[in-house]
Amino acid sequence: MTETAKTKAIFLDRDGTIIQDNGYIKDISDVEFFADTVSSLKRLQTEYELFIVTNQSGVGKGLISMQDVERINGYIDSFLKENGINIRRWYVCPHEGGCSCKKPSSYFIEKAAEDFGIVPALSFAIGDHPHDIEFAENGGACGFYVLTGHGSKHLADLPLSVPVFHNLSDAANRIMKPEALNSNNFCSIDEASDLLRSGGVAAFPTETVYGLGADVFNPEAIAMIFKLKGRPLFNPLIAHITDLKMLDRLTADVSDTARKLMEKFWPGPLTLVFPKKDSVPDIVTGGNPTVAVRMPAHPMALELIKKADTPIAAPSANAFGKTSPTTAVHVIEQLGDRGYKIIDGGASRVGVESTVLSLVHERPVLLRPGGLSAENIEEVIGKIEIQKEPKLKNLESPGLLASHYSPHTPFILADGEPQDNDDPETGLLLFKTEAVRSTGPVEVLSKSGSADEAAVNLYAAMRRLDKLGLKQIIAYRLPEQGLGKAVNDRISKAATPAEDSAST
Ligand code: TXA
Ligand code: MG
Repeated sequence: MTETAKTKAIFLDRDGTIIQDNGYIKDISDVEFFADTVSSLKRLQTEYELFIVTNQSGVGKGLISMQDVERINGYIDSFLKENGINIRRWYVCPHEGGCSCKKPSSYFIEKAAEDFGIVPALSFAIGDHPHDIEFAENGGACGFYVLTGHGSKHLADLPLSVPVFHNLSDAANRIMKPEALNSNNFCSIDEASDLLRSGGVAAFPTETVYGLGADVFNPEAIAMIFKLKGRPLFNPLIAHITDLKMLDRLTADVSDTARKLMEKFWPGPLTLVFPKKDSVPDIVTGGNPTVAVRMPAHPMALELIKKADTPIAAPSANAFGKTSPTTAVHVIEQLGDRGYKIIDGGASRVGVESTVLSLVHERPVLLRPGGLSAENIEEVIGKIEIQKEPKLKNLESPGLLASHYSPHTPFILADGEPQDNDDPETGLLLFKTEAVRSTGPVEVLSKSGSADEAAVNLYAAMRRLDKLGLKQIIAYRLPEQGLGKAVNDRISKAATPAEDSAST
């Protein structure tokens, strides 16, 4: 079979991107492919040449030999070949430093351009380390960051403008467009802002979760959101803004406390509840005299709101009562492909919704724990009140209701240390790597035991377990500190029976 050479390429990192990052890999038995590696690469190679570019500084440091590296790479290469995947060339930098070929130097992108006529501007580099993104940028290609491997650990060092994906398959979806899904929904920021200005509904990425947005001042457009989500009308929406001038259109009542919080935490995962102006439609606030506002920290969300030139009311873009989406494909899986367009901006970095803080009482009241911890808020404004588990009646923030974010599989919350469970039909959702079992359906939210990392991975992990058709999922609580509280809040809501539900 003769193949015509392609001029577009994907430069793949090895460890953490196509195989697990298991340290300095010395042996073939250390190689663990990700479940989605083969299917993702198969799709990518229909349009792109594939290169693997790997820093192997362990060689320069004397920790592994070049022969070992070549043997391992040969093994990976033949495994991929057996599965129909052709890696055009392996590029390995064995140096410890001080060479010209080590990422983030773009040496190998230039080499591929020279050797194979690759056009960097049409190409992507995918990796789990910020240096993979710098490598792409230095070479004039586009960098995509994955949260596998060391991805979530280094996330804080990554500029906000870089698209982040849960794994290789999500990144491939973004590059190729999901094959199973009708891609007519996907649109550019310009198309989405035109749609919002003309009274339509557009889903967009934020740093917490994807939102389903419409113009705050257009009640018919807002009604469409409730319809698409199947959400009860009493449940109020958050207005998303890009600057403080937009805040003036929503409230006339900005206290010093609010100013301090906005200065410190906006843009970011904090929603503040203010007394509303009369011009804010009741349908946005669920008839409340208050309005919830936040400035999201996602460059595409900010650009969209700016171009639409109006505050955008947006709940999380999930079907009512279901898990909040952290990728564009999650949104389409839940809401279908009718009645709205969507901007694909990769995975949401925070992974849980914003913290909701009400400023309409004498003392600030935390209505919903979320992406910003109560401790962080208290460092800036002192003690806040935490709203207790609410009753169905008289609810200030219905998002606090007991049942929420539910997977289809029966979901059980367990207390204490994780217990051994060798039933292959029981999935385990664990915080960190505990010696519970080595096989079977297990999702570990953060190998290193970081609550921030667990929050990023939570919804995607719940979704993966939910798709396995298991008898049950058992989830274990995180320590009640920092974002651990927000994660515990979400998993305990997922575990509550739906009768009590009025979720967002
Ligand atoms: O991170 C987030 O907040 C995401 C992204 C898209 O920004 N949005 C989100 O929206 O989670 P939603 O609608 O799923 O949750 C909004 C929460 C609910 O708990 C709602 O009850 C509360 O904010 N809320 C909205 N307006 C309120 C108001 N006026 N007073 C009290 N709570 C309010
Ligand atoms: Mg929601």
